[in-house]
Amino acid sequence: MAEYVVNGGHRLNGCIDIQGAKNSALPILAAAILCKDQVVLHNCPNLSDVTTSVKILRYLGCTVCCEGSTVVIDSKGMYRCDIPTELMREMRSSIVFLGAILGRFRQAQMSLPGGCEIGPRPIDLHLSSLRQMGVEIDENHGLLDCKIPGALQSADITLSFPSVGATENIMLAAVCSRGVTTITNAAREPEISDLADFLNSCGAKITGAGETTIYIEGVRTLGGTQHIIIPDRIVTSTYMACTAVCGGKLFLKGALQSHSGSVNSVFEQCGCLVDYMPEGIYISSNKNLKKARLVRTMPYPGFPTDAQAPVMAMCCFADGTSVFVENMFESRYKHVDELCRMGAAIYVHDKVAVVEGSRKLYGTTVSAQDLRGGAALVVAALGAEGTTYIKGINHIDRGYENLEVLLSDVGADIKRI
Ligand code: UD1
Repeated sequence: MAEYVVNGGHRLNGCIDIQGAKNSALPILAAAILCKDQVVLHNCPNLSDVTTSVKILRYLGCTVCCEGSTVVIDSKGMYRCDIPTELMREMRSSIVFLGAILGRFRQAQMSLPGGCEIGPRPIDLHLSSLRQMGVEIDENHGLLDCKIPGALQSADITLSFPSVGATENIMLAAVCSRGVTTITNAAREPEISDLADFLNSCGAKITGAGETTIYIEGVRTLGGTQHIIIPDRIVTSTYMACTAVCGGKLFLKGALQSHSGSVNSVFEQCGCLVDYMPEGIYISSNKNLKKARLVRTMPYPGFPTDAQAPVMAMCCFADGTSVFVENMFESRYKHVDELCRMGAAIYVHDKVAVVEGSRKLYGTTVSAQDLRGGAALVVAALGAEGTTYIKGINHIDRGYENLEVLLSDVGADIKRI
């Protein structure tokens, strides 16, 4: 099994190109099966979760060509409407294929997305919304058997929580249905707007994406398009945290201020200088970090749960006590024990984590338990004294493209062995 070996304490200087957003790429790859003509996606990150989506598309009968960060999908040959359990288990977000397959074939079979990594991830909102649209769903022994007896009906759906995945599944199912579907209390993440922009460029009629109510006027068919995936705001915040603990100055090319206001203000509060340019974001740090007062994870535009772990790792190096409240997922503090092995002082009770900034961590052997928790260990290791060995980096590979290469290029001492 590969692992990272990190020697901490090196300043970072230079430029990192921010990869395309994983959480945009995955639903858009699923959406491609609704298009009768070829879809060309640019800035698609080369990640294991994207590879899983490509495997699913090929299993369904689509032709997919990947070259660099461009992925070309032709779904004319699609002939299946089931996803094997192994592929569903490889990636929890494969559930987003449900709405797209239903939109295309009016039936779908797949297992429930498996496992528990950051807490229970129920899909009750996805299923109740699809039922409102006339989908009959049988749940048996972890298998979902879905069919639409007549035409897919439009519906007025109110989500009890602005779930990202449920909003995407409704959009995908509704885009080629009859009538106008509305989603009230919809998720407002930039990745939702990116999915709507992609679908609209294929001929869909979606308005309101990025706001709390989304209107989807069904169209008969979708054509093809070329689309550029938006930059990854979570990867951006991870490299910002790396710079904060190492000191130095990085230009994050492509990063958008408008997608990460709530995170950037925490970096500024902690004493980093953040400069916004049309081409990207500059961050510089003199390593004299101050505490973050209170970080509460919330649906967008609040502080993203995915940035909680890397920012917490940064706060271990700050002067003073920072408080985190994780409101989105139950088990999203798995990095805490590992950070404590490196010398951090963090106390967790339910949703709350109190981080006593110690200004110093020490290298040791740690293990990534999930994607963003793994990224937090990289942040901690870069700022720590001595050598850190990070195991379980397959989790990190799900969300970060060429992490060790990009960080080495700007001065970090990090190797994959
Ligand atoms: C997406 C992101 C993930 C991010 C999360 C929250 C992708 C591929 N993943 O995940 O990186 O951390 O948004 O910003 O885009 N919930 C229910 N019932 C449901 C659906 C969700 O109770 O049917 C709950 C979840 O358990 C969780 C909360 O709602 O507590 C947020 O989940 P959701 O917004 O759906 O996240 P994902 O789409 O799974």
